[in-house]
Amino acid sequence: MARSPRPSDDREPPPDPRARLDLNELGELSAPGARRRKAAKPSKLREFLGLKPARAGAASTRPAAKAKVRETEYVDERSPWFTKAAEFPAESGMEAKLKFCLRYAVLAPSSHNSQPWRFAIDGRTCLLWADRTKALPVSDPEDRELTISCGCALAALRVTLRRFGLEATVKHLPDPKRPDLLARVKVDGPMRNPPSAEDLRQFEAIADRRTTRQRFEPRSVPASIVKALADAAEEAGAAFVPVIGDEQRTRLARLIHEADVLQLGGRAFRRELAMWLHHNRSKAHDGIPGYAMGMNELQSLAAPLVVRTFDLGSGRGAQDEQLALHSPLLAVIGSERDDPAAWLKVGEGLMAVLLKATSVGLTASYLNQPVEVPEMRVHLKRLMPESGWPQIVMRMGFGPKSPHTPRRSVDEVMLH
Ligand SMILES: Cc1cc2nc3c(=O)[nH]c(=O)nc-3n(C[C@H](O)[C@H](O)[C@H](O)COP(=O)(O)O)c2cc1C
Repeated sequence: MARSPRPSDDREPPPDPRARLDLNELGELSAPGARRRKAAKPSKLREFLGLKPARAGAASTRPAAKAKVRETEYVDERSPWFTKAAEFPAESGMEAKLKFCLRYAVLAPSSHNSQPWRFAIDGRTCLLWADRTKALPVSDPEDRELTISCGCALAALRVTLRRFGLEATVKHLPDPKRPDLLARVKVDGPMRNPPSAEDLRQFEAIADRRTTRQRFEPRSVPASIVKALADAAEEAGAAFVPVIGDEQRTRLARLIHEADVLQLGGRAFRRELAMWLHHNRSKAHDGIPGYAMGMNELQSLAAPLVVRTFDLGSGRGAQDEQLALHSPLLAVIGSERDDPAAWLKVGEGLMAVLLKATSVGLTASYLNQPVEVPEMRVHLKRLMPESGWPQIVMRMGFGPKSPHTPRRSVDEVMLH
């Protein structure tokens, strides 16, 4: 498969540390030749985008803002987010039942909210296909995150089938001649036993889960929950490895910072990211609206242009480094192997972790940059050898909940 250039391929002139554009200095862009401002003074642009300077310790000392979620403020009431379990077509045939269950599968997370999946239903069988027209060739040239995202949707489908009492057999990558066919889910019949309390909790968590990019409350995550998250990942064939100790955390936070600088220093990376950023009132059914990153209307209108035009890497990196340093729980999800079969399992493991986390009141966010930049991934692998091949870097905690992001309807992702 033809691969697009990696972010580093089009990187702008090498960063002379004195000359590197810093978020704190962006004000100078509009006034060439203007005298350098003090580095500590935040630029207007940075404030405008809501990228306030991340002060050391700030995240650990101030409680996060109280959650104010009005789910219908941005997302259309007809969105799959508002599906009611009571609408399950119990009296209809299996095709209608499977199609209903897909309303929950499409609520899965995906990189840049690209929703790179397609489904086909034939009788009792549902096929999951990779939709490579939604690929992110710069940040995800091997379709690794694309496959992980599809694994998340597959896990949500399995949980939903159990909720509605349907026993299913799942085959991963069932046809070597068709690599885009990621899974075949065949409903065998009704389950022998009714869904367990844990099945029901996992199901409820599907529509409650969301990515929250704000700071979390400083309160720590109990060890029993961390163990439950690791067990959930392991059951799916992935490893969930918490970052333990100050040294490991500091080094990972530094890798995240450096990866931000490398990624955002590339024009192609910024162009790709900007294409998926939408303003708050966009009617698009995919992509990341500004509100998911804490932006107001005006900020969200400007964000795609600003991201495409300016290298915000060092400011973003400093902010992400602080988020990592002060996250109540920082963890790496990894796998023994690094191929499509492993990525699919990682996706199932990631979704299992997210559903478990949601069901106990945690919210989660990603700091995946060091996995996406190949030269940083090598360092990460050395730093976290227990995770095998690092696939996802995430932070978790208690605290605010972002509003939901849009989704395509099931009809939009069906192959007819
Ligand atoms: C494989 C994968 C990688 C992701 N990487 C990042 C990331 O590096 N940074 C980030 O902010 N969000 C990341 N996300 C979160 C997505 O942007 C998010 O799931 C998507 O926008 C949909 O929003 P929701 O999770 O709130 O439903 C990732 C999600 C997945 C599944």
